[in-house]
Amino acid sequence: MTNVQIEIPATLVDEKPVSITGCRHHFPLLHERVNGKPLIYLDNAATSQKPQIVIDTVIKYYQTENSNIHRGVHYLSEKATQAYEKARGKVQQFLHAAYREEIIFVRGTTEGINLVAQSYGRQNVKEGDEVLISAMEHHSNIVPWQILCEEKGATLCVIPMNDAGELVLDEYEKLLTARTKIVAITHVSNALGTVNPIKQMIASARKRSIPVLVDGAQAVPHMNVDVQDLECDFYVFSSHKVFGPTGVGVLYGRKRLLEAMPPYQGGGDMIKSVTFEKTVYNDLPYKFEAGTPNISGGIGLGAAIDYVNKLDLKAIGEYEHELLAYATEKLVKVPGVRIIGTAKEKAAVLSFVIEGIHPHDVGTILDAEGIAIRTGHHCAQPVMQRFGVPATARASFAFYNTKEEVDALINGVYKVKEILG
Ligand code: ALA
Repeated sequence: MTNVQIEIPATLVDEKPVSITGCRHHFPLLHERVNGKPLIYLDNAATSQKPQIVIDTVIKYYQTENSNIHRGVHYLSEKATQAYEKARGKVQQFLHAAYREEIIFVRGTTEGINLVAQSYGRQNVKEGDEVLISAMEHHSNIVPWQILCEEKGATLCVIPMNDAGELVLDEYEKLLTARTKIVAITHVSNALGTVNPIKQMIASARKRSIPVLVDGAQAVPHMNVDVQDLECDFYVFSSHKVFGPTGVGVLYGRKRLLEAMPPYQGGGDMIKSVTFEKTVYNDLPYKFEAGTPNISGGIGLGAAIDYVNKLDLKAIGEYEHELLAYATEKLVKVPGVRIIGTAKEKAAVLSFVIEGIHPHDVGTILDAEGIAIRTGHHCAQPVMQRFGVPATARASFAFYNTKEEVDALINGVYKVKEILG
């Protein structure tokens, strides 16, 4: 990357983003050049870029508030605690959770799922039971359940998907049995872009009193999520995919379930009292927040949520839908291109392969054009196996991407074919 300095006007920090088309200048990195070309960032499913307000919030925290939280009576500690807890309130509203205590700060989606598997799972899954996931899960929603099943002698069952990358709901209904102890499904597939009908799927599980965990990592940047309306039991997401800092994420859990669950990790903050004979655990949410958390990250996530709220997630979803349709229409016309993931309901992800060309080569040639996409198995190897490909090239969009950038991607794909086809 070149060393171009971006001047950010001081006023931008407080500027209210008003429209999607006017928001691009809030993201300093989008104005960089890569390999001598303007950066075209289409790897948003891996991580999104950060608006200046998020960057400034993190800097301001370290410059004016840095202190450990929930521990000191001194001024800075109280200030940092208030800012962190305010961020928790923002997350609660963002997910429409009923109670503040239902919002647990974790390192990210992966840790949130591991927490539920190791705490709820170890308590409730026994030999002969079943854990039900889907064929399109990210490794982080497969492996924690495999570890649990191996330990307990339980079975991991998988909801199949069709050739478009949609879950086969009739099969799902059949797989919900008296042995099923938890369902763990993704809201939006990171490798295919499929938006799953999770409300309907949760309703089916609830009829049989089976709790449902939803992996929302790829959903929250693109649509409104209301955990009360969905009636899910657990919902997890990562800050860094929704324009916030890395290293922090959220586990929403239904209060009744969280209260009954044993702690995931022991340490500071998750206790009320400790003697060598016995530890009394803290109340929610702190029972699940051992050790000094990612304070600046949580506060930065709060700023990201404020930013996204000002833009309006409904408008974001509609804009990205248009962008995806535009990109899909152009990409299918390129000879030899096969799109992996053609579900009716999709969000912001365009995975594809080009006949006779390895996806890594596609990524390398596009990189030379300043275009960032992800290539590989996207931490979803079973999805690759299902579609009979070793890897795909994946362009993934955010609201700051434009049709001009899609045009550049398509031109880049033609160039790949010209060079390697
Ligand atoms: N899970 C992230 C992705 O899909 C890293 O790229």
